[in-house]
Amino acid sequence: MQGWSLTVPVLVVGLALSASGQTATPPSGQQVAGRVASLLKQMTVEEKVGQLIQLPGAYVPESAQTEERLRKGLGGSVLWVRGVAALNKLQRIAVGESRLRIPLIFGLDVIHGYRNIFPMPLAMAASWDPPLVERAQAAAAREARAAGIHWTFAPNLDIARDPRWGRLIEGAGEDPFLGAAMARAQVRGFQGAYVGSPGHVLACAKHFAGYGASEGGRDYDSVYLSDTQLYNVYLPPFQAAVDAGVGSFMSAYMDLNDVPATANHFLLRKVLRDAWGFRGFVVSDALGVGNLLNQGYARDRADAALRGFKAGTNMEMASGTYGENLVRLAGEGKISTAELDDAVRPILEAKIRLGLFENPYTDETAVETVLETPEHRQLTRVAAQRSAVLLRNEKGLLPLSKTAGRSIAVIGPMAHNADNMLTDWARQGDPKRTVTIYEGVRDKLGAGARVEYAQAIDMQRKYPSMFPGSASKPWTQAQADKAYAEAVALAKRSDLIIMALGELASMSGEGASQSSLEFPGRQQELLETVSAMGKPVVLVLVNGRPLNLVWASMHVPAILEAWHPGSEGGNAIADLLFGDAVPGGKLPVTWPRHAGQIPIYYAHNLTHQPETAPNFTSRYWDESSFPLFPFGYGLSYTTFSYSNLRLKQPQVKLGGKLEVSVDVRNTGKVAGDEVVQLYIHQRAGSASRPVRLLKGFERIALAPGETKTVSFVLGKDELSYWSSATGGWVQEAEAFDLWVGGDSAARLHGEFRVVE
Ligand code: GLC
Repeated sequence: MQGWSLTVPVLVVGLALSASGQTATPPSGQQVAGRVASLLKQMTVEEKVGQLIQLPGAYVPESAQTEERLRKGLGGSVLWVRGVAALNKLQRIAVGESRLRIPLIFGLDVIHGYRNIFPMPLAMAASWDPPLVERAQAAAAREARAAGIHWTFAPNLDIARDPRWGRLIEGAGEDPFLGAAMARAQVRGFQGAYVGSPGHVLACAKHFAGYGASEGGRDYDSVYLSDTQLYNVYLPPFQAAVDAGVGSFMSAYMDLNDVPATANHFLLRKVLRDAWGFRGFVVSDALGVGNLLNQGYARDRADAALRGFKAGTNMEMASGTYGENLVRLAGEGKISTAELDDAVRPILEAKIRLGLFENPYTDETAVETVLETPEHRQLTRVAAQRSAVLLRNEKGLLPLSKTAGRSIAVIGPMAHNADNMLTDWARQGDPKRTVTIYEGVRDKLGAGARVEYAQAIDMQRKYPSMFPGSASKPWTQAQADKAYAEAVALAKRSDLIIMALGELASMSGEGASQSSLEFPGRQQELLETVSAMGKPVVLVLVNGRPLNLVWASMHVPAILEAWHPGSEGGNAIADLLFGDAVPGGKLPVTWPRHAGQIPIYYAHNLTHQPETAPNFTSRYWDESSFPLFPFGYGLSYTTFSYSNLRLKQPQVKLGGKLEVSVDVRNTGKVAGDEVVQLYIHQRAGSASRPVRLLKGFERIALAPGETKTVSFVLGKDELSYWSSATGGWVQEAEAFDLWVGGDSAARLHGEFRVVE
């Protein structure tokens, strides 16, 4: 074990710094490597292990010891602390009271905004607008960095095909191509052009990997994935994040094929580092290393620490096993100096690149000037407009006129509830500054109309959330009956009813899986009661997952999916309802009729008997096999036509590129956006291929009558896949179909062949 070194730490400072202390120009890899090598030479084993420990700043009893542990050099990072003063205080202990003055890196979940909250990530994916997503996460990064946070535990890149899973809201849905595009956009948004860009933070690709495939949609449950599912579906967004330069990864909680991801050599070594060349560091999920005991994997905490460390989890989040065991394990020779240095190196590199050595503290006077600027508020309003998906609009009921003198009722548990415009991952958001649907509609119409709201229903989880403080006090039966009756009475005396229904923020997110897709509480009953009055009804959904809209899709003329739309949600929804914005979002998930169809996703295989046969219309005798709304679906206030699909050539050589173009025309009376989507199908090969695969998309704006040509390129990346027959990536000389249109059921068809 190295003795204490008495040398004063000599750090080569080769960085040009911005005002925020972050690097205005990135240091060279050589400069960083040299500084790290110099530090490692001076560090004791205890100090190296200290860098691998992320200490809790809240939520768990151990957070009471964090300051003391920092004084002993037993921490390299702290999470769950909010507030610049509190963060600077911890940093002063780490830098001012430790021998080598190595700064802490502060981490926090800035998933879809810091103070200014954007729509939840699934909603942002529904915008199909990567540049918008990049701008949003860049704004979130600006706020987080000004608030003293260096590292966000985002983006969540979990592909999910089971809407019962609560964390569907945190990712980009079911498709790896869309998911990869969102991964790149978010990494660029959070990190900027390079790690250390001023006003940006380190990103963290999570949860690696396969978490969204938890059995039954039950959060944390086991995941069993074949190599074809892993490589073709669940891994591509993570690889895209590596290609985009993401600086860290977070290992997932669950066991993948019986091996917990936190200690999974295949994932953390073979795939992430050996195959993809990832050079950043991996942090466990909260308590994940210690929980290897719960998973029936590790014998004891020392075993958990050793196996997590050896598998490639550099930093342990909050469970303490590294601090308890790694120094001794190193002394026993079970961990070599080289292994220890390899684990510490990328963490020190990140701290150097972030400029933390030169400027470990955050300016306490500047933060409020950065949080929730008008520009950020406007951006989140635009993001909510562009994320909403119009699911139904019979007889053009929407947009509503702003004609004065109308009485409008906004009814339902989502009508005037700021908490539910956010999500459980928006804890830095300010509900008091969040615009509700009722407020948005009222402010849009002003004195000209009578706008009233009624909550109608009090919703509760049957089983409490793991997050304290999210539950409201349940109504008594008398209160519930009174509120329901008042809502019905309000509907009766109103000209038009906006039904604001959905789910509480606590009904999605971590530990918030749902066994059904039915509306919670008496919402369905209320919707049917109000609809029976024969007045115009618009259904606005505030929710985190597809819900059972079978009845509504036949009886409610207009349905707008608004998701959990963020700080400006009410204004954005009012903009859309009254035509100041035009819906252009598309579903990032297949929308089932009900939970009985799950799992259901568009990129399924043909099977030996597709439903196209005359006497075979459904795989179920009691239900259609088809979803209620397909992946990629969404309406507008205008209409579009597709024509003139042309391929540059009818065939392309293996490894070559094929250009595909199509003309899209706005055939309606108002301007609108269309997301042009391209899908392919390989007709034969060493393995069966899905009926369709998304391989291109572009969101375009079209004025009435305007036509634009949209082009896509299909190359090796788009035409290759992992074949479980050959156990590797292949591109095969086969015939292909392709379709272009506004959703995954697109009918405009072309074909081409890949040749040797
Ligand atoms: C949680 C989540 C993870 C989050 C971490 C830190 O349990 O699974 O997504 O980043 O803890 O809050």
